[in-house]
Amino acid sequence: MASSSSFSSKYLGFLLPLLVLLLQPQTSFSLTCSSQSLPRNKIYQYCTDLPKLTSYLHWTYNSSKPSLTLAFIASPAKPNGWIAWAINPISPKMVGSQALIAFKQPTGVMTVKTFNVTTYKSIAPSKIDFEVSDMEAEYSNSDGVMRIYATIILPKNIGPVLNQVWQVGSSVTNGIPDIHGFADDNLKSLGTLDLTKGGSSSTSSVVGGANSKLKKKNIHGILNVVSWGLLFPIGIIIARYLRTFESAEPAWFYLHVFCQISAYVIGVAGWGTGLKLGSQSQGIRFTSHRNIGIVLFSFATLQIFALFLRPKKEHKYRTYWNIYHHGIGYLIVVLGIINVFKGLDILVPEKRWRDAYIIVLAVLGGIALFLEVITWIVVLKRKSNKSTKPYDGHNGA
Ligand SMILES: *[C@@H]1O[C@H](CO)[C@@H](O)[C@H](O)[C@H]1NC(C)=O
Ligand SMILES: *[C@@H]1O[C@H](CO)[C@@H](O)[C@H](O)[C@H]1NC(C)=O
Repeated sequence: MASSSSFSSKYLGFLLPLLVLLLQPQTSFSLTCSSQSLPRNKIYQYCTDLPKLTSYLHWTYNSSKPSLTLAFIASPAKPNGWIAWAINPISPKMVGSQALIAFKQPTGVMTVKTFNVTTYKSIAPSKIDFEVSDMEAEYSNSDGVMRIYATIILPKNIGPVLNQVWQVGSSVTNGIPDIHGFADDNLKSLGTLDLTKGGSSSTSSVVGGANSKLKKKNIHGILNVVSWGLLFPIGIIIARYLRTFESAEPAWFYLHVFCQISAYVIGVAGWGTGLKLGSQSQGIRFTSHRNIGIVLFSFATLQIFALFLRPKKEHKYRTYWNIYHHGIGYLIVVLGIINVFKGLDILVPEKRWRDAYIIVLAVLGGIALFLEVITWIVVLKRKSNKSTKPYDGHNGA
């Protein structure tokens, strides 16, 4: 076994870069709308730096028509993604918004289309409540931004203060923008816009609802990462490697049980928050994440029962029980890690969280590999010492 000092230096070696990673300030785009010059000398009366998704709106408002001529600037989540700006005549939220969405066509030429967004589930190009003219979109290769230009004739009952929603996405399938990410910024990219005032004071994000939901999602994420993503694998590492050492004989078993029962309790809490989130998100389904979650819960429950149904060591069924218990255990670890990544894809936290989890997994993997080697050395030594009693991988549990 490695000395504890080499272990602690190993831990420090991974902890320090992790801390640096966590403390790093977020890189941000320092450009403000008032310093932007638009191509072809397009000039607008007002502009505002939208508070989320590094997006900008430039516009001219003619209150006598009334009409709104605008340029919306944002970077799609990926170069082949999309950007959208919308007015929602009813409330500042996605459903009900009358959207202009720009993306690259398969030919590579940019297009902008109008979308009457009626559900979260699917959208299709359609007429919207407003008359829109001079629609145009462009992609700037140099800085990766897309721009939407349009003139909207506003009905008399809308403005000068209106609800705006904007968004960016990473992909487009058959001319239909795919669902956007669910990071903090994607959920808070909405607010009111006073067409008669420029500057960032004209926008405010106004949804408390999105905020508390995000908090719930973060709690769900943390509980499940700790349970399925960390404690279960650690519990398996304990069971597999510590029992090689005779001195750890009853201790490893209690540690293993303690680890897995804690993981189960936390996991059930995380699973419950997931079900609640699922029931609250109207129309949005993350089917595979949900199904894997249900399978994980069922398997983990089986494992808890397995503890009580464990035959005695000498019992002839013990071998079958071992195969079953170990098989399901490894399956839980693999599915748990897959589902953590699926969850990360849905929640899209800042990249450093994914990186941190990958680093932790790599460290756990490294420890497991190291212990695997130690185990083999111990076992082979034991074998050569008393060749009459070969190593039995299934003693203990
Ligand atoms: C606003 O629209 C009205 C009606 O079309 C037009 O006569 C006027 O010139 C416009 N004002 C500006 C500043 O463009
Ligand atoms: C947009 O969708 C809503 C809900 O289906 C519908 O009531 C409305 O008439 C649609 N608007 C247009 C311009 O088609």
